[in-house]
Amino acid sequence: MDLLVVGSGLFGLTIAERAADELGLQVTVVESRDHIGGNAWSTVDEDTGIEEHRYGAHIFHTSNDKVWGYVNRFTDFTPYEHRVYARHRGEVFPLPINLGTINQFFRRGMGPDEARRLIAEQAAELAGREPGNLEEKAISLIGRPLYEAFIRGYTAKQWQTDPRDLPAGIITRLPVRFNYDNRYFNDTHQGMPRDGYAAWLQRMADHPRIDIRLGVDFLAPGHELSRDAVVGQVPVVYTGPLDRYFGHRYGTLGWRTLDFERRVLDIDDHQGTSVVNECDEDVPYTRTLEFKHFHPERTHRSGTVVVREFSRFAEAADEPFYPVNAAGDRAVLEQYRQAAADEPRVLFGGRLGTYQYLDMHMAIGSALARFDSTVRPWF
Ligand code: FDA
Repeated sequence: MDLLVVGSGLFGLTIAERAADELGLQVTVVESRDHIGGNAWSTVDEDTGIEEHRYGAHIFHTSNDKVWGYVNRFTDFTPYEHRVYARHRGEVFPLPINLGTINQFFRRGMGPDEARRLIAEQAAELAGREPGNLEEKAISLIGRPLYEAFIRGYTAKQWQTDPRDLPAGIITRLPVRFNYDNRYFNDTHQGMPRDGYAAWLQRMADHPRIDIRLGVDFLAPGHELSRDAVVGQVPVVYTGPLDRYFGHRYGTLGWRTLDFERRVLDIDDHQGTSVVNECDEDVPYTRTLEFKHFHPERTHRSGTVVVREFSRFAEAADEPFYPVNAAGDRAVLEQYRQAAADEPRVLFGGRLGTYQYLDMHMAIGSALARFDSTVRPWF
């Protein structure tokens, strides 16, 4: 073994594939779950044949040509363009907020300039005063009526906190489009892996010099691939939680997690689209996914798989999904970053290893860059 990679998510797999293929190294990948691929993993429901994303909806999008070229070595992408709809008081609106949303909400037929003026008037409520919390910040960006309809309840559910008690800095902008473009992402490239996420991830891992060991926790003591046995002996790329690597010695970094409520329905179409957000606070879940709509090009057997997402703060045993990044977290993070810099030939990467939300293209882009800047010089 020349290199040990901890975690087989897109960061770990990208490093492993590059090290094996370009540098000719023998790479061992340890993964604590019973499957590769990290949070991008998908499985197929046996009854309906529908591909399900096991850790929340995953849509690939990027404007980075290097990343796009790299991922296309392992999979083709369908031309899927993501569109999200939002329910508020029983009515369904297009998101992100665009001219269609605005006109439907205000029961008007405004053109772009008129709508821009209306939103600017409504956003002037603070009269130049600095926003003191997330609610005021959002109102200063899009005005109170749109904020109360589309942002307040959803944000309160996501954070389990009243937006008036959340810092203004959580949002810097709220996209409002003064045209009818409701594509969720405006990146140059987007789509879904044609044969599914599992096939894509398996092709990345399928290399004669990559040895994958599933069900192995690098931080559990007493085995030949554990931290204590390997660090200092063999270079390591670690993509697990940063605080856990150091035994939480400076405290715990806060994460939000999701609970998924999955149902297989005996109808062909539940909501007519892949994602519907629930904006109202009296609906306890934040959104409903209906997976078959990610692949309109596929034929499925009858029935449909839907998943409701519920958001909450993560406890120790939960999957960490989104960093909370409160002021306390940032102080703790700084200490862990210092400690990480002192670890001999250990690269901390990926979303857990750097305590950062990373989209898939960002995890891959970061892995390609860190491969060149850190891993290559090790050999
Ligand atoms: P990832 O978490 O995938 O992999 C880390 C791996 O390390 C895991 O498999 C874990 O089991 C393993 N591990 C941890 N500790 C270990 C230990 N001690 N020993 C062994 N193994 C260990 N992105 C996007 O582009 N479009 C999208 O639509 C979405 N949607 C989305 C929805 C939700 C709900 C989430 C939470 C995230 C997304 N993402 C996304 C982001 C996407 O999931 C993310 O970019 C990748 O998971 C990042 O890959 P990593 O390798 O960094 O982490």
